[in-house]
Amino acid sequence: MKKINIAIDGPASSGKSTVAKILAKDYGFIYTDTGAMYRSVTFMAIKHEVAFSDELGLVELIHRYPITFKQSEVGQLVFIDGEDVTLAIRKSDVTNNVSEVSAHELVRKELVKQQQTIAKDGGVVMDGRDIGTAVLPDAEVKIFLVASVVERAERRYKENQAKGIKTDFETLKTEIEKRDYIDSHREVSPLKQAEDAILIDTTGKTIAEVVTMIKAVVSQKGYL
Ligand code: DC
Repeated sequence: MKKINIAIDGPASSGKSTVAKILAKDYGFIYTDTGAMYRSVTFMAIKHEVAFSDELGLVELIHRYPITFKQSEVGQLVFIDGEDVTLAIRKSDVTNNVSEVSAHELVRKELVKQQQTIAKDGGVVMDGRDIGTAVLPDAEVKIFLVASVVERAERRYKENQAKGIKTDFETLKTEIEKRDYIDSHREVSPLKQAEDAILIDTTGKTIAEVVTMIKAVVSQKGYL
């Protein structure tokens, strides 16, 4: 099987990670959640009391404490310097500050380097905001997923409920809109559809339907 890279970008809760994980499993590829890396830096900043505006301080955290992924029976786990932060990086103190942290050019440079190393031999499904435009501009398949704000807030609400995280629906909607705005208006690698990416609107579609659509794109391009 040819080892291609698949880039999946889109705004918060557009379904990227869910479909990316399924594709990776079905194709036997490595799944890389780049949002988890920006979340990890935000988590470290809180833990080590580095200001979200302190670009060099944040870069130093990246150098000092390695971020790693581990596959397990319950899914992918995220570690910082050996500590399991899989759940901690999903909490609202991280979620509400990650856009500020991820807007720094030097923070992005460091993490993009790591992401490119992970994907250098192909066989990766990577999700994020700038994978098709900046991290893997040569990815064989690029998908840009979108969905209405209401549907995305509903998805996040259900996810949080399942994880036992208490949230208010309207607050979630406002937070998603705010994050969309910052992510798509920042100067460095803003959230943007790559010219050669295929746009899929997941509003009203099931996960299985979206996965089928992406697999159709992959085979139409002559891969897998
Ligand atoms: O996908 P997510 O919600 O876990 O991402 C968290 C944040 O990280 C998101 O608000 C923007 C940022 N991010 C980014 O700037 N570039 C990426 N490739 C992935 C995420």
